[in-house]
Amino acid sequence: MRSADSIVSVNVYGASGYTGAETLRWLLGHPRVRVVGATANKHAGKRLDALWPQFVGATDLVLGTEVAPADVTFLCLPHGEASKLAPGLTGTVIDLSGDHRLPEPAHSAAYGFPRATDPWIYGLPELGHERMRGATRVANPGCFATALALALLPMRGALPAVVTAVGLTGSTGSGATPTPTTHHPARAENLRPYKVLEHQHVPEVVAACGAGFALDFVPMSAPLRRGILVTVPLPGSAGGGASFENYRAFYDGNPLVRVLPTPPDLHGVLGSPRADLGVVAGPDGRAVVFCAIDNLCRGAGSQAVANLNLVMGWPVDLGLRSLPPVP
Ligand SMILES: NC(=O)c1ccc[n+]([C@@H]2O[C@H](COP(=O)([O-])OP(=O)(O)OC[C@H]3O[C@@H](n4cnc5c(N)ncnc54)[C@H](OP(=O)(O)O)[C@@H]3O)[C@@H](O)[C@H]2O)c1
Repeated sequence: MRSADSIVSVNVYGASGYTGAETLRWLLGHPRVRVVGATANKHAGKRLDALWPQFVGATDLVLGTEVAPADVTFLCLPHGEASKLAPGLTGTVIDLSGDHRLPEPAHSAAYGFPRATDPWIYGLPELGHERMRGATRVANPGCFATALALALLPMRGALPAVVTAVGLTGSTGSGATPTPTTHHPARAENLRPYKVLEHQHVPEVVAACGAGFALDFVPMSAPLRRGILVTVPLPGSAGGGASFENYRAFYDGNPLVRVLPTPPDLHGVLGSPRADLGVVAGPDGRAVVFCAIDNLCRGAGSQAVANLNLVMGWPVDLGLRSLPPVP
């Protein structure tokens, strides 16, 4: 592994897509990173700033189909494509797809193809920083999985047998290519539950939160571009239940999580690497826990950069110290 004060070279595969461009947005401002290559598929040959004018003046990267090896490679590709590429890559690979998150047989059940057996680490920073140091294969968590796991982790070991949750998500969660259920006329002024009780992120959450419970999850597409808000009602218990104080203590010192005694809203997190949790207390120890994230930041690109930081032994929020835009 490189020393903690070195500059690392990075590549981003899938930079014409939403998570790839968002990952690049954070990487281009990172003080210890040099972006050396970026790829696309049908957009190969174009300049990055021709596709995304946000990058004009920031980089002259041209999207290739292949790039020279780098110290670290971010894979921002559709499910199934990342696992084809990863075995041939040297250095550290951080995969934002679902190809390496779940153990078998859960992976095959969720994604419909078998998983490679390389030693991938599930990259939710809250599961421990030291376990990430020097890792060469990191599976970045799913966006809904991140929000749900952050809402449930403080209750690990004390969760009821069945947890019920509802989550709303914006259209960028489905990627840049529109489909009949994801393009604008289908989503605007509409709410649509989908994959009810069968979302592929559920097994990730259960594994991350220590298993021993079932998660009944209702995802819903909302008329937003970015953002996820999950709502999780939790019962009280003999020893108490979820509380603002417990959650605040659990996440104390974590720069990528803020805990509020009120419901969070999406404007507090959009464009930001931070998750906002809200814990609203009710009678008899009952509580409702909320988690708001930007699906492309804490749910994808900035979380991938946080994982790079942990792999390198840098502070988890290096290059990620920005507040959400106002208003
Ligand atoms: N969107 C989210 O909120 C989110 C959050 C967390 C994780 N993820 C995961 O991140 C991955 C990328 O998602 P996304 O939303 O960024 O998708 P996207 O917007 O559709 O971007 C996909 C990228 O992959 C490239 N690509 C497509 N097919 C390819 C192939 N056969 N070979 C090489 N490159 C190919 C595309 O290039 P062209 O544009 O040139 O075709 C594009 O750069 C997915 O696995 C997704 O599940 C997404």
